[in-house]
Amino acid sequence: MAAQYGDVTRFRWGPRHEFLLNHPDLVEQVLVTEQRSFMKGQALQETKRILGEGLLTSEGALHLRQRRLMQPLFHRGRIGEYGDEMVECSTGLQARWRDGDTREMHDEMTRLTLAVVGRVLFAADLEGEAGELGSALTDAMESLQRFMLPFYGAVERLPLPGPRRVRASRRRLDMTIYRLLAERRANPGGADLLSLLLQARDEQGEPMPDAQVRDEAMTIFLAGHETTAVTLTWTWMLLARHPSVEERLHEELDVVLGARPPNIDDLPKLLYTDTVLKEALRLYPPAWLIGRRALVDVELGGFVVPAGSIVILSPWVTHRDARFFYEPLRFDPDRWTGQGQADRRGFGYFPFGGGIRRCIGESFALMEAKLLLASLAQRWRLRLDPRQVVDVLPRITLRPRYGMRMRLEARR
Ligand code: HEM
Repeated sequence: MAAQYGDVTRFRWGPRHEFLLNHPDLVEQVLVTEQRSFMKGQALQETKRILGEGLLTSEGALHLRQRRLMQPLFHRGRIGEYGDEMVECSTGLQARWRDGDTREMHDEMTRLTLAVVGRVLFAADLEGEAGELGSALTDAMESLQRFMLPFYGAVERLPLPGPRRVRASRRRLDMTIYRLLAERRANPGGADLLSLLLQARDEQGEPMPDAQVRDEAMTIFLAGHETTAVTLTWTWMLLARHPSVEERLHEELDVVLGARPPNIDDLPKLLYTDTVLKEALRLYPPAWLIGRRALVDVELGGFVVPAGSIVILSPWVTHRDARFFYEPLRFDPDRWTGQGQADRRGFGYFPFGGGIRRCIGESFALMEAKLLLASLAQRWRLRLDPRQVVDVLPRITLRPRYGMRMRLEARR
């Protein structure tokens, strides 16, 4: 639609007007300068059955209060403490990898990021003996699969899962989370995110009610791992298809790290690793669609968008527009250095959204993706299974439609 109709496309979905916008200035207008004229869509009602009123789903004053309260927990300095746990999770995964094995990398990466979020959020080993939490979360996730992420404009059109199953997994989850909460209250001072949520105070010095802590923990869990898992999966595919990029990545890892595992002090030195991820997030943005509902009539690109309309922004579409990226379909990490970077401005690139609803986990996700990619690529080269067909499955996140089977080759 963007190619055919330009920066603003209006179409109808049932009785409602929808607008696809494809220009950095319009993206900025919706996400930042006129963000108060928009809210997220109404599928929240269903999503709230599991997520409650967490950051992703809440609106207005509650969202603002919670965002202020939680922002410090996601500050770069603060989350640095989780770096070692991320690398430990990666080491755990690699202990099961064998030279010559073929693995389904989307599953492997999901398992890995799930392990990370379990450790960081609950100080629990979701893969190991704390299986109760792991399976409750997995169940809830499955029943919520389609609602996991922020694009409610699109989610509203999807068929809903059986409410009974959602209720049952919610009950299991609640039991587990409230038990963990009681344990944290009995033994305060932990460094996991759940303990920090309990310790957080608002401007009046008030803590969050337990139900709010529960909702926020659930939200971080759900929003925080699938996105990073698909980012890594697409990155492996791109590296396998671009051996010269892969070689430069390996060179950097060999020079900076040698054989020792990475830690957060290495991150500023892993510049090429950084551009590889940035470029993967450009071509395969996990959050490929961001939806909003207009609260009032808004003028956008010379059109009046009536109150109640759905506005759709798509990192996928905008990131692949030749006006904003030279040879947009080429995987070229170098476009993120030197003049290419200097020329870039504004919202032509927005894998993490923008404005007050910008991803709160951005620094966390980038640190995690970088540490996991570095620690894995340091020791392994991944080759696409010759029979693997690569295509996208644009659900709530941008998944690989046929999975991503890859062969493991040990580098050291
Ligand atoms: C590469 C990984 C990730 C991507 C591409 C991503 C993308 C996004 C995007 C685009 C939004 C905004 C959606 C909108 O405006 O409608 C968002 C919101 C959010 N993300 Fe992420 N995310 C990632 C990782 C994470 C992680 C690791 C966490 C938590 C640890 C997280 C937690 C959240 C939360 C809580 C929100 C809602 C923020 C708010 O509305 O105030 N995300 N994410």
